[in-house]
Amino acid sequence: PEPYAEEAVPQAGSPGLVLLRQVGTVDPASLDDYRAHGGYAALRRAFALGPAGVIREVTEAGLVGRGGAAFPTGRKWDATARQPDHPHYLICNADESEPGTFKDRVLMEGDPYALVEAMTIAGYATGAHHGYLYLRGEYPRALARIQYAIDQARARGLLGDDVLGQGYAFDIEIRRGAGAYICGEETAIFNSIEGQRGEPRSKPPFPVEKGLFGKPTAVNNVETLVNVLSILERGAAAYAATGTEGSTGTKLFCVSGAVARPGIYELPFGVTLGGLLETAGGCTGTPRAVLLGGTAGGFVRPDELDIPLTFEGTRAAGTTLGSGVVMVLDETVDLPRILLRIAEFFRDESCGQCVPCRVGTVRQEEALLRIKDRTGAAAADDIALLREVGRAMRDASICGLGQTAWNAVESAIDRLGVYQ
Ligand code: NAI
Ligand code: SF4
Repeated sequence: PEPYAEEAVPQAGSPGLVLLRQVGTVDPASLDDYRAHGGYAALRRAFALGPAGVIREVTEAGLVGRGGAAFPTGRKWDATARQPDHPHYLICNADESEPGTFKDRVLMEGDPYALVEAMTIAGYATGAHHGYLYLRGEYPRALARIQYAIDQARARGLLGDDVLGQGYAFDIEIRRGAGAYICGEETAIFNSIEGQRGEPRSKPPFPVEKGLFGKPTAVNNVETLVNVLSILERGAAAYAATGTEGSTGTKLFCVSGAVARPGIYELPFGVTLGGLLETAGGCTGTPRAVLLGGTAGGFVRPDELDIPLTFEGTRAAGTTLGSGVVMVLDETVDLPRILLRIAEFFRDESCGQCVPCRVGTVRQEEALLRIKDRTGAAAADDIALLREVGRAMRDASICGLGQTAWNAVESAIDRLGVYQ
């Protein structure tokens, strides 16, 4: 394997890894090596269980989506499988674009056959015969490796008209994004694949009912799908024995910023934020804040490192795990400058379709620019404006981008006391 995956995974080769167990140890260009490491046992088990049996296992395992929203995967698959309208589609959302998120990239580059196998299982469970991998355009190495894996799997009868001789037809097509953050929103992906502007659609109807080309579609994140392999290999109960009741299994955390060993870490749900940072070698310098969950999440203070990293634990602490971003900022960081950068990002990436987000992201950036070097009473009017604009974006935007564009700024004002 080329060095990238190992460099990004300081735990590579350590015992106890589930999702990362093969990253850095399996040859990503060899189907034989993947099979020698136990590859395709999960698909065989899926065929033995049948589609309903697979969905039952995934539901009992308690798997929830790892793109950021934590929706129960079994429920999504069951709802798709039950739709009378055909064809059904499967989309793997690999348009990983949340700043600070690079876990799916590591999985795709380090263990591409795992994703091909997992997509085949998801297609089988949901009654799809065609799967799309919607891949971030800036991931050329992932593209090369996954395309090669798909071609090899097809040549060996693991994709195509008769997968593993089981009478099930399934194939995977890669579609590349073109640099727009919004095209990772699931309904914008539909438009993008259909050749239309990458603008989100209103939900409901949810994709499970009306998705790609108006047909029932299951959209799953890369990390979510790779979890299914270990659920089928070990069984739902063994899988659910790790983590907490509300967040089962392990999670990939994208640790960056002022830490000794940045990279992707896999730890059971329930580890505290402080525990994770310790695993990453601890903070370098004096920590000022941690951005948790990405720009859709928010900042927490250094005295909040006991927050348990679970979906329910972060929610109770008034924040979110999102896509697993853990970005440590030390005291040398200019926080107002960071907030401006985040606001600029949202203004730039807003698709412009709805007014609260199109106008709100501009007003937010303007206000942050005005108060960049101000504190106290001099900043008060603009902070009040930011709150009003933020509320409007959260309440009235069509999609998650506008709904969360104020989260990070709000947390910096309320939790970190920036501008005070
Ligand atoms: P959402 O809560 O609208 O939906 C989550 C999933 O559940 C979707 O697939 C949706 O179709 C499905 N769903 C929800 N209710 C349903 C129902 N009643 N029936 C059937 N299906 C249902 O969240 P969204 O907007 O899809 O994702 C937001 C998250 O994305 C945020 O938490 C953010 O952290 C994350 N995100 C991740 C990025 C990344 O690069 N990984 C980039 C940007 C945001
Ligand atoms: Fe587009 Fe923003 Fe509206 Fe989403 S919230 S549809 S990104 S304008």
